[in-house]
Amino acid sequence: MNILLIGSGGREHALAWKLTQSPSCDTLYAAPGNPGIAEEATLVALDVMDHAAVIAFCADKLVGLVVIGPEAPLVDGLGDSLRAAGVPVFGPNAKAAQLEGSKGFTKDLCTRANIPTAGYARHTDKAAALADLARFGLPVVIKADGLAAGKGVIIAETAADAAAAIEDMFDGSFGDAGAEVVIEEFMVGEEASFFALTDGKSVVAFGSAQDHKRVGDGDVGPNTGGMGAYSPAPVLTPELEARVMREIVEPTVAAMAAEGNPYSGVLYAGLMLTDQGPKLIEYNARFGDPECQVLMSRFEGDLAALLLAIAQERLAEAEAPRFSDDTALTVVMAAKGYPGTPEKGGAITLPAQADAKIFHAGTAMKDGQLVANGGRVLNVTGRGKTATEAQAKAYAAVDAIVFPSGFCRRDIGWREVARERGA
Ligand code: AMP
Ligand code: GLY
Repeated sequence: MNILLIGSGGREHALAWKLTQSPSCDTLYAAPGNPGIAEEATLVALDVMDHAAVIAFCADKLVGLVVIGPEAPLVDGLGDSLRAAGVPVFGPNAKAAQLEGSKGFTKDLCTRANIPTAGYARHTDKAAALADLARFGLPVVIKADGLAAGKGVIIAETAADAAAAIEDMFDGSFGDAGAEVVIEEFMVGEEASFFALTDGKSVVAFGSAQDHKRVGDGDVGPNTGGMGAYSPAPVLTPELEARVMREIVEPTVAAMAAEGNPYSGVLYAGLMLTDQGPKLIEYNARFGDPECQVLMSRFEGDLAALLLAIAQERLAEAEAPRFSDDTALTVVMAAKGYPGTPEKGGAITLPAQADAKIFHAGTAMKDGQLVANGGRVLNVTGRGKTATEAQAKAYAAVDAIVFPSGFCRRDIGWREVARERGA
């Protein structure tokens, strides 16, 4: 089977790396890809917004499966167009991708399906939102309803900050994403990510991870798309995972199907482990980036066969996903300036050998030189029996990379490493 992978980040490099290890994968194409993905796949210059062009490419190259990595083409309906053309696709339709594309949609679904999540209010009117604030305690969470590249969430410590965040969102600081605002009760606990695969009918667990959202060591500074991650997240014990499946993921899949909006693809649940049990923070309609890099480093099955089974609504017959017991840990190397304006074009030299997998996230080739081409540039992924060992391997490889205009956090996995030390 020939496969077309959509996307150009570290998540897609990890997917490409795993897909090409699948016995059922013949030629892997990637659009647009990156220099790391080019080592695994044939890159094609397709405009993914041009659905007819993608469909024509699939017909021409006998593509039997399209795997959509990022959320934007999902929300844009690329999945719908491919399904309508009879091309098997991994990734939800646009309406189902609202689980990520609209925070208000997901909160209302949680209410209807009795799924534990933070209390909330949806508002499309600035004055009404400001008037409603008083009902919530402090801190309070203010969110732009739509896609805002992970940046549309403000945790306000004071009423004045909360009001300012609401004003900003309605005044367009997040564009159309802020035309509706969700006010949420602040939840206290440890965060963890949980992944499940579904074809709209069956659901299987697909591992856990924890990421590091803040830019600086010790979890300080502005939020980012993620500066590192590790998998599994042992805080999500088998008992808690079963509870998350039963109380959060399965009711979501069932409600989506019952409402005529079946969800097919990966459901990435951001969870808060509160003292009342796990609660949903948000859903993503795609794999996490860089969580996918650590999941793929541990996944041991035939990824292409599994994703095809989901695309063809045959998940119930597919082999259950298998993962190594090892811990995988990835360190994001970013370009200086990230998450603000990253320095572009900085030269990178990778070591010839490393005891870690170096995924490309934002790189480009310029005159034969590998250079930075984005905020998050490389994902250096180590694997070991423990988080401590995986961390040591990842940082040994980081230290062998020459990237003067880059930086990384030095404490990825700190919670787990501390737990392993018995601290
Ligand atoms: P989101 O984009 O919805 O995942 O939010 C980004 C981050 O904001 C989350 O990873 C949490 O750290 C935090 N956050 C979001 N909603 C809440 C909430 N209701 N209570 C506490 N923290 C939250
Ligand atoms: N690492 C967070 C995300 O992919 O949304």
